[in-house]
Amino acid sequence: MKTHVTALCTVAAFLCLPPLVSRLSAAEDVVFADFEGPDYGPWLVGGAAFGKAPAKGALPGQMAVEGFAGTGLVNSFAGGDNSRGTMSSSDFLIQKPYITFLIGGGGFAGKTCLNLVVDGKPVRTATGPNTVSGGSERLEPGSWDVTDIKGKTAHLEIIDDAEGSWGHVSVDQIVFTDTKPVLPLHMERPFQTTFSATGNWLALPVKNGAAKRNVELSVGGERKRWFSIELADEKPDWVSWLDISAWRGQQVELKVDRLRLDSKAFEKLDQREGDPDAGADLYQEHNRGQFHFSARRGWLNDPNGLVFFNGEYHLFFQHNPYGVQWGNMHWGHAVSPDLVHWKEVGNALYPDPHGTMFSGGGLVDTANTSGLGQPGKPPVVLFYTAAETSWEQGLAWSLDGRTFTKLEPPVVKKFTDGNRDPKVIRHEPSKHWVMVLWVERDGGSQVQFLTSPNLKDWTPVSAVKGEKGFLFECPEFFELPVEGGNGEKKWVLQGANSEYAIGTFDGRTFTPEATKLPGQFGREYYAAQTFSNEPKGRRVEIGWWRTATDRDGSAFNQSMSVPMELKLVKTPDGIRMSRQPVEELQSLRAKQHPFGGFKLEENTANPLAAVQEELVEIRADLVPPPQGTVTFIVRGLPVMYDAAKQEFSVDGVRVPAPLHEGQLDFTLYADRTGLEIFASRGHRFIPVNFNFKPDDFSMGVSVKGGVAEFKNLDVYGLKSIWR
Ligand code: FRU
Repeated sequence: MKTHVTALCTVAAFLCLPPLVSRLSAAEDVVFADFEGPDYGPWLVGGAAFGKAPAKGALPGQMAVEGFAGTGLVNSFAGGDNSRGTMSSSDFLIQKPYITFLIGGGGFAGKTCLNLVVDGKPVRTATGPNTVSGGSERLEPGSWDVTDIKGKTAHLEIIDDAEGSWGHVSVDQIVFTDTKPVLPLHMERPFQTTFSATGNWLALPVKNGAAKRNVELSVGGERKRWFSIELADEKPDWVSWLDISAWRGQQVELKVDRLRLDSKAFEKLDQREGDPDAGADLYQEHNRGQFHFSARRGWLNDPNGLVFFNGEYHLFFQHNPYGVQWGNMHWGHAVSPDLVHWKEVGNALYPDPHGTMFSGGGLVDTANTSGLGQPGKPPVVLFYTAAETSWEQGLAWSLDGRTFTKLEPPVVKKFTDGNRDPKVIRHEPSKHWVMVLWVERDGGSQVQFLTSPNLKDWTPVSAVKGEKGFLFECPEFFELPVEGGNGEKKWVLQGANSEYAIGTFDGRTFTPEATKLPGQFGREYYAAQTFSNEPKGRRVEIGWWRTATDRDGSAFNQSMSVPMELKLVKTPDGIRMSRQPVEELQSLRAKQHPFGGFKLEENTANPLAAVQEELVEIRADLVPPPQGTVTFIVRGLPVMYDAAKQEFSVDGVRVPAPLHEGQLDFTLYADRTGLEIFASRGHRFIPVNFNFKPDDFSMGVSVKGGVAEFKNLDVYGLKSIWR
């Protein structure tokens, strides 16, 4: 409790007379400094930042300063943000258990701070709240519990050792007290705790859209994990489970840059021994694709490191494990026996001091050219970009397909900032490896080619330019036989938007013959990649299918496409790529609605009226009326084919889809996230995402302007891959 005696004590404290202070009764607060005088009194002041005397509020050029006590305060904005200085109090004896103060301005540890110094070392420190532009000049209460250093001689110092935005600090009303201070709960402070890792998983509670916090976990003084996360102060939308199994039995230091004082985020550190999801009915969310891969939790973008290894397909993916928006890039990891049913097995690559883990490819080093394998155990090797920091290309490998080790240092030095997305393939005739890497150079996209004998030492050999958005990001490069081409083979170089070039490759230089060919005709299909080492010798692709599923506190966002097989086929226009869904998807068929061949006339009743399916496969071969239209209804959405224009239109997407000998063929997959149509013998891949279509499982087919002759129509209700 504060009494009138404090005015007197202020003077006593300034004069630093411990005997007088010690005569005070326990309940009385001691105002050590209130900065109400005409000058700084006994404080030693160095540098220009603090001026010659306490400020009376804002200084010239400063936002309104509020929250200080009385009429004076310490304000290091004298001379603006760039001025620096230090103020030191005289020594005093720590006699009361708490020191309280008001502090504002910059939030830079050690740079804009108030320190309590004992034996020449700061033993307590506090900063203002601001590190980025915006914010407020308001001083907020702060306090230290100094019970453990009672009896020590100490002094205070106020430091402004920062320039630029928020390069100043303000301090006022320093009080020694017996009363445990109660700080306003809305206030934010740095948070730090040390806990013993007794479990394998630590709960990180997330509230989508909450303020972003920077979290760091260190073990034995070494930073192990760091990320930004929208922490839930109260009830979380979902929990991101951090794997802490590597540090079991050790002390883990957890730091959060700022946390509300009343935040419950780490009130009880929830650790779990066993799988926190055991028994949970996962993947059942309303917006969760039921046969499209999505991350169990968090954000997903590009497929990475697609490879078949040790009897499993591996799908790595750009993953933010801690939030449903892009950020904190890790490589998530899922495995499948059949390209269809996926099981997530934890993150494979975490950000490290070289950077966050951007996209790249994977391969099996069968002949152990890298020496990273063991007899009879070839390594699976991943190439990634250490992004946002070093922009180098890194290599990680594994012998068991679960735990990955990074080679230090990364294997390819930076070409230019932002260079990324290494994909590595084997060029057997040259007996070397080839890396394609996206590089922004001379103001445009280029694909840089490099070669290596051993996956570790890389030599740049050539580059291909991409004009007008062509070959932007995520290059993919492979050779395919031309169907019916008598053993003829061609090379395909593809960019993230699926536009591709066809040409020849001598192991060092790619020579395009046809270029900027469209690879997909729908929307939001991106950054596709193909599997290395595919056991059936196919070229199988999966792409990121941008399907926003981050509504209503969702624990996950985005999805992949279905896997599809790529082929090169001859067309009247030249050799082109075709895409068809892989045959393994047929294992999802739960219910068949066969319609066989039939004629559909304008007044025919809807043949599909009785079919109600949520997850659908349609296979159709038909001769549409030459001047008419055929319209399917799938999940309540019209999918129309206009035979005169030879064009599909679906939800605003219009795509020319040529008839073949007067006949239209297509396969259509419908999930909760959208439709994928493979039409015109695979020449038209038309992904159409739904942005939150209402549930409507009705189906139909009708014709206008003539008669449609169906050669065959099969409709299948599909099973979820998650059950
Ligand atoms: C493509 C991309 C890549 C990059 C990754 C980062 O979607 O921008 O170029 O590696 O995403 O998540």
